[in-house]
Amino acid sequence: MKYASKKNIAILGGGQLGRMLIQAAISYDVNFYVLDNDENCPCRDLCHYFEKGSLMDYETVYRFGQKAEIISIEIEHVNTAALEKLEQEGKCVIPNSKVIRTIQDKGLQKIFYQHHEIPSTDFVLTDSLEEVRKNQSFLPAFQKLRTLGYDGRGVQALNESNIEMAFTAPSLLEKTADIDKEISVIVVKNDSGETAEFPVVECIYNEQYNLVDYLISPAKITAEQETRAKQIALRVVEKLDSPGIFAIELFLTKAGDILVNETAPRTHNSGHQSIEGNLNSQFDLQIKALLNLPLGSTAITVPSLMLNIIGAKGFSGKVVYKNLTEIMQMENTYIHLYGKKETKPGRKMGHVTLLGKDREELITKAEKIKSILSVESE
Ligand SMILES: Nc1ncnc2c1ncn2[C@@H]1O[C@H](COP(=O)(O)OP(=O)(O)OP(=O)(O)O)[C@@H](O)[C@H]1O
Ligand SMILES: [Mg+2]
Repeated sequence: MKYASKKNIAILGGGQLGRMLIQAAISYDVNFYVLDNDENCPCRDLCHYFEKGSLMDYETVYRFGQKAEIISIEIEHVNTAALEKLEQEGKCVIPNSKVIRTIQDKGLQKIFYQHHEIPSTDFVLTDSLEEVRKNQSFLPAFQKLRTLGYDGRGVQALNESNIEMAFTAPSLLEKTADIDKEISVIVVKNDSGETAEFPVVECIYNEQYNLVDYLISPAKITAEQETRAKQIALRVVEKLDSPGIFAIELFLTKAGDILVNETAPRTHNSGHQSIEGNLNSQFDLQIKALLNLPLGSTAITVPSLMLNIIGAKGFSGKVVYKNLTEIMQMENTYIHLYGKKETKPGRKMGHVTLLGKDREELITKAEKIKSILSVESE
């Protein structure tokens, strides 16, 4: 395999996932072009070329993609018709446009799992309140907007008493899973077909904001559950049939079933701990997948916990991190700030990774950090 450096890689989206990719990819001597709507986005000052523009606009994405040899994403809400055109013209789009199209519509995504007999909750598609009412027997359910939801927005628990709150846009109604644990597997595939999967991690949710509060690696599950979770995740990626990095969010139910919740066709919050906790991070493997290089080991070097640094309730505006230096004094604690200038309630502003000897030690330390760290505004 020969290695040619100075490749130009175009990334659609300039958020923290792109920022951490650039950080990992500096070692590979490549140039990053970034497109984002926000000129203050986390990648803004780190990439070689920045363009402000809409990720959903055909012309913008098409013209931007033409500048590079490899095109990838760090958010799935992008114009897939433009990516398809770029593919037809011989550009290397990772993951491919077909996969992004399937995943960016939660309805198509569920149909994909059903078609490939990948275990997932039962669902119906609805377009209006009348249709939700017609499917009342399906409640209690999770209703999800088919497109443009993220970080728990566009997702709500529906039951008979709050049915009036139902989304009226195209949605899916999913049977509520009886969840024991939320776990996640990240799978990477390069263009040569080599795959690697990360050990299973366990996600603890922040109920207020409906996003990951912290995650622990490795997950506390049986060896059999670990194997089964990885098998399901690998099957999802095999059937998606595209190189790239994919995060498969899974529910381990109280009955012991493992169901796919959803797949992200990109790096994911549930892989951030791998920067310090694994031999290669998700971003190391992402850049290797983009360049079609051998992937390398995903093994855990030491147990880790990743805690999201989330904008506190009641604060909006120029960000101030309270007690961050106290946390920096703690041993085996690694701070990552995403460089967002403005905070708002529930916004992911950064994360902290803790390394420790075991789960109990990690959780105790995380709770301590949670009690003192606060993201406020000036
Ligand atoms: N069918 C379900 N049964 C029980 N809980 C569910 C179900 N679907 C979603 N949830 C809960 O809601 C959370 C968010 O759902 P989902 O992952 O579909 O939304 P999202 O907006 O894509 O989230 P994110 O961007 O944070 O991954 C899940 O992690 C889970 O806690
Ligand atoms: Mg999710």
